[in-house]
Amino acid sequence: MFLNIIWAFIIYLFMNSCADQFISTLGLSKASYSKSSYNKSNNSYNTGSNINTNREGEAMYSALGCVSCHGQNGHSTDENAPSLAGKDVDWIVQQLEYFQSGERQNTYMNAMAPMAEGFERSIAEYLSIQNSKY
Ligand code: HEC
Repeated sequence: MFLNIIWAFIIYLFMNSCADQFISTLGLSKASYSKSSYNKSNNSYNTGSNINTNREGEAMYSALGCVSCHGQNGHSTDENAPSLAGKDVDWIVQQLEYFQSGERQNTYMNAMAPMAEGFERSIAEYLSIQNSKY
């Protein structure tokens, strides 16, 4: 857990200095994800290119190191870190805000949540559409 957070911090410093280039390297552009729409009724996210994911959220979930504790696709294999797959979008955003403000206390998350600033919703959307059962 401790090494994870150091890695996450190093990645954060890197991301901070070149977030835009990083996002465009991944083939993402502001235009491509602003077109996307979240479909609450069937819980899918359509990016406009028939890919049912939120590509920005998916990229940031990995890049910020969330994946190292919460697992691939939000399926945690670390007993200390809860799985996030299939959780409600608004609930995830709310938890991140609570960790950011310190209203919810956890050593790891109080350090991690501020790094997700600006990407809370896209990460939450990506996680919410992952199958919670496998
Ligand atoms: C170093 C390990 C670690 C990293 C990295 C990490 N988390 Fe967490 N996360 C935790 C732990 C541990 C908890 C449980 C906190 C608690 O018990 O209150 C948690 C809780 C959460 C929760 C609330 C889940 C629940 O069931 O209450 C959310 C949402 C969350 N993390 C999102 C993220 C996101 C998004 C990132 C990346 C920006 C991230 N986490 C990175 C360890 C981590």
